[in-house]
Amino acid sequence: MVAILGYSREQIFTAVRDMYGAVAREPNDHFHFPVGRSAARAIGYPEDQLDQLPGSSLEAFAGVGYPFSGEAVRPGDTVLDIGAGAGNDALIAASMVGSDGHVIALDLTRPMTHRIRSAAAEAGHANVSVIEASAERLPLADGSVDSITSNGALNLVPDKRRAVAEMFRVLRPGGRLQIADVVIQRPVTVDCSEDPRLWVECVVGATVDEDLLAMFRDAGFEGIRVARSLDYFSHSPSAQTREIAGSFGAHSMELAMQRGEQAPSVAWYWARRLNPLRGMKSLWRRGAVGVASLGLALVTCYGTMAALALLAAMGAGIGLHEGAWAAVIALFAVLTVVAVAPGMRYHRNPGPAAAGTVGALVVCYALFVDYSLVVELAGFVMLAAGVAWDVHLRRRTQARILGVQGAT
Ligand SMILES: C[S@@+](CC[C@H](N)C(=O)[O-])C[C@H]1O[C@@H](n2cnc3c(N)ncnc32)[C@H](O)[C@@H]1O
Repeated sequence: MVAILGYSREQIFTAVRDMYGAVAREPNDHFHFPVGRSAARAIGYPEDQLDQLPGSSLEAFAGVGYPFSGEAVRPGDTVLDIGAGAGNDALIAASMVGSDGHVIALDLTRPMTHRIRSAAAEAGHANVSVIEASAERLPLADGSVDSITSNGALNLVPDKRRAVAEMFRVLRPGGRLQIADVVIQRPVTVDCSEDPRLWVECVVGATVDEDLLAMFRDAGFEGIRVARSLDYFSHSPSAQTREIAGSFGAHSMELAMQRGEQAPSVAWYWARRLNPLRGMKSLWRRGAVGVASLGLALVTCYGTMAALALLAAMGAGIGLHEGAWAAVIALFAVLTVVAVAPGMRYHRNPGPAAAGTVGALVVCYALFVDYSLVVELAGFVMLAAGVAWDVHLRRRTQARILGVQGAT
């Protein structure tokens, strides 16, 4: 069973169906995200487009942006709306494609699919069909759609890479994709499973903006363009949601792109995914560069020492430039402090950076002034204490903002 931030896939699907089932059944209830016509207007839907939508679908609008800024839908297209909700975008697309085109509105939540059916009938759109299914397993043939639109759904999907691969599969080569979705700038790293509602309120399940763009590129999409970024959460009626969104840098992005002619080769795909620069950025955002640098310092110091001893025991001693060796260890120790220090901005405690700095200075003293294994080890212990303290405080801060137990 896959678990994301402590959630199981079933837990996510149940939470999504509960929340968006409630939006479909009682759209005028209180939600932590904006719903209905005023929400669509605030996001930038033109009034004349809203005037043409039936009240029954518009009152349950729960999108996070205006995906049509991506201009992917053309007359005559077969369009797929993924996570169509009450069907507002599907109905707008139905008008755009005309009677020669066709719109498939897909959603995971049954009461939403009921709303789409009745809204399409009310609006007189015979070219809309409705499917209840998951974005991770689209029940459509390869290359069977010309364009895809999606609004606020991908952040709710547990396996986003799989959903993006499915989009690529069902689009014809050269087909177009427009998507509005929530993205974040700082990833959530604490276990949130005690509160499934956090996932469905659109921040906790969201992807870091750069990673989302990379995910589409990895899958073989081209010409990726950010049509607009918007401060969607400033419209949230909940102060707690606004605080959570602010803390993780959550906002909406509207994207447009095309499906490449061919699926990328396995080698190209893995070369992109295993790019060390990407790995470093990801570690940095997770506040884990300190742990990685400390690990490298220890391996360089004691791993090399152990390897040299082993080689000597085997009668194969090799010469090592001790100054260069010490310089590399010191470099990793300093890098550890550089990585720990920015945590202070987040948790406001200078303790970890101070402990790390003292530890790094002690290690450098042992390496360059007066070597003693005990002093060197004491330095590493202080450095490790700074790193562990910083990780603990970062996690505790996230847990407090999210209102979960997390690391206490
Ligand atoms: C934030 S709402 C947006 C609905 C609609 N696009 C709109 O603009 O009003 C997200 C929708 O995505 C659907 N959804 C969530 N996870 C899904 C999944 N794995 N597959 C398909 N639909 C999903 C939900 O049921 C919900 O209706």
